[in-house]
Amino acid sequence: MGEDAAKVGKVAKGPDMRVTVCGVELASPVIAASGTFGYGVEFEEILSFERIGAFVTKGLSREAMAGNPTPRIIETASGMMNAIGLQNMGVKAFVEGKMPRLREIAGAVVIANVFGFTVEDCLEVIRVLNDAPGISLYELNASCPNTAHGGMVFGTDPTLLGNLVGKCAKLAARPVVVKLSPNVTSIALMARTAAGAGAQGLSLVNTFLSMAIDPETRRPRIANVTAGLSGPGIKPIAVRMVYEAAQAVRIPILGMGGILNASDAVEFMLAGATAVQVGTASYADPRAVENIANGLRRWCEKHSVGKVSSLTGGVVL
Ligand SMILES: Cc1cc2nc3c(=O)[nH]c(=O)nc-3n(C[C@H](O)[C@H](O)[C@H](O)COP(=O)(O)O)c2cc1C
Repeated sequence: MGEDAAKVGKVAKGPDMRVTVCGVELASPVIAASGTFGYGVEFEEILSFERIGAFVTKGLSREAMAGNPTPRIIETASGMMNAIGLQNMGVKAFVEGKMPRLREIAGAVVIANVFGFTVEDCLEVIRVLNDAPGISLYELNASCPNTAHGGMVFGTDPTLLGNLVGKCAKLAARPVVVKLSPNVTSIALMARTAAGAGAQGLSLVNTFLSMAIDPETRRPRIANVTAGLSGPGIKPIAVRMVYEAAQAVRIPILGMGGILNASDAVEFMLAGATAVQVGTASYADPRAVENIANGLRRWCEKHSVGKVSSLTGGVVL
């Protein structure tokens, strides 16, 4: 085969699956969501990091956290409820214990998920991450209660959210993507607040507040009483919220909530997402993120979509 034929072969390889999020180029728009993909290293024998866009770490706090008592996960008719309670090893143990290996894994793009119960907690996590090479983006989880303000969740109050995002974005050495709480009346207001305070991207949705009771025992099925609902049951609400956020701001959106397959991913992109995240699906199939990334490529081929990025915001009204 001559050089030209080889070049043609390369061009004919298929759709361009790359997307750019806050200046970071991803090989695919499909990303593994926080809390459902461990610290990434657990998946190195399971899937190819070169075939997925990136992964988001478990939420990282300034100190290690044991999480909530069990039972803390149950299945629902169309998803799951969890009250893991943000169990994690702490940011320092992550940087020292997991980052060296993650930096060796071909194609692994690391998004570090940050949370805290005060603004200072979050700033301390960011300070530690800033000194760690190999991290591409920060995802700031705004669904945490602010213990300095009577437990009010940062992401449900525009003043708390703006203050948190402003301080974190100023300190951060990497772009900050703010993960919004969906437990609000106006997601557009929260999207505009975060963007106005310095967020360079948005992630949504996090889980919806929920509760389940066992009629036999009359007790809550989850020890924490309330829990976060995720999975296919929340998808239509999540698509609506991504659409509303995309109408409100001009920064990239990472859309998620119940994505199980490639056409679900396309739906979120048409609603306005630049990239998507897959969470609960990884519980049923640990290879789900890669399968969906591969499926999205096939979907683009079948629908003659030359650049996956052209799907973003493409809903026809
Ligand atoms: C078991 C579990 C743990 C999670 N932990 C976190 C977390 O630590 N930080 C965070 O921002 N989101 C966390 N999430 C939320 C997911 O990242 C995602 O936003 C949500 O589950 C919706 O997507 P899905 O329906 O594809 O799961 C968690 C979700 C689940 C199911």
